[in-house]
Amino acid sequence: MTTVVATPEFSCTETPRIPLGQRLLASGCINAQQLAEALAAQSSLDPEEINHLIGRTLVSLGHLTQGRLRTCLAELFAEECRVYHANPAVRPSLSLRGVEKRLDGRVVLDGIDLDIPHGHITAIIGISGGGKSVTLKHLVGLMLPDRGTITLDGKDLVALSPQALQAARRRFSLLFQGGALFDSLDVYDNVAFPLRETTEVPEDEIKRKVMRALEEVNLAGMEHKFPDELSGGMNKRVALARALITSPEIILLDEPTAGLDPIIENAIHHLICDTFMRTRTTMVIISHAVPAIFKWCHHVVVLHQGKVRASGPTLAIQESTDPVIRQFISGDVDGPIHVL
Ligand SMILES: Nc1ncnc2c1ncn2[C@@H]1O[C@H](COP(=O)(O)OP(=O)(O)OP(=O)(O)O)[C@@H](O)[C@H]1O
Ligand SMILES: [Mg+2]
Repeated sequence: MTTVVATPEFSCTETPRIPLGQRLLASGCINAQQLAEALAAQSSLDPEEINHLIGRTLVSLGHLTQGRLRTCLAELFAEECRVYHANPAVRPSLSLRGVEKRLDGRVVLDGIDLDIPHGHITAIIGISGGGKSVTLKHLVGLMLPDRGTITLDGKDLVALSPQALQAARRRFSLLFQGGALFDSLDVYDNVAFPLRETTEVPEDEIKRKVMRALEEVNLAGMEHKFPDELSGGMNKRVALARALITSPEIILLDEPTAGLDPIIENAIHHLICDTFMRTRTTMVIISHAVPAIFKWCHHVVVLHQGKVRASGPTLAIQESTDPVIRQFISGDVDGPIHVL
């Protein structure tokens, strides 16, 4: 049985971007005077940076604690998930249509149709081996389908020349399952790597960006450590800093919290939310952190047996009566999915 929840008619209207400071003001997290003071303190920054750093400026001025800022951002995010649930008509950034893939003679993707809504967070969930990582590799053109199309902003990735495909890939940032840091490079060089590989940014600017990225993932002072000197959670955070450093248009994270303790898992979810609220980057997160991940995404895609079992706003998926989805959410051993 395939149930596809709420496949919307896409409208091309974009939601106007309200600056984050204004949203914090409207939600009552700060008052008008506090916002005015923060904006005055940021008067030398360019407009993008103002939005990017407003939370940090409010914290440094003592108007919000770091914890209160996190809570405020999570509340704003929950509110926009409710809005998305009521009106999920958002244009897709990426679409797969009829994507089929065999690997080692086995059908892994069996006709995948899915849309990744632009400027939103999508979680892809499903049982182990169900084809999530393979789907992600198709989304970024690292694997090509045997059949079907992959479109990025309406352009078919499969039909692109190798050079054009490489250029398209620069629009993405991918955190591989397992992190995939370079063991022979220290934290600083790992995070700087994509900037050095894909941009002409001078070294002093790279230094500024790397230090800020490390501060954002709470790893300031760790830049000269090597991956094997860090805990699993720290390695994940370095990989996350590396995925975010080029300010990509689309960020794809394959299990950013796997194997982490619940506190670090929560911290990473907050960090992803914080990044999203500041940048509004389209994000795709593959996650086994069910049901925790439902708090951190607008949209959910459930993959099962190489097909999309359901796709829709998170709240709709949570309410699904499909026994497969119910079993997956509850984690019951007994049910239509046989694991033992
Ligand atoms: N490069 C490959 N060559 C052959 N088979 C592969 C390859 N990559 C993945 N597979 C197979 O495809 C299937 C789906 O793998 P995939 O990695 O997408 O699963 P997943 O849903 O991400 O699982 P998990 O939650 O455990 O990460 C698996 O049976 C896997 O063995
Ligand atoms: Mg995987």
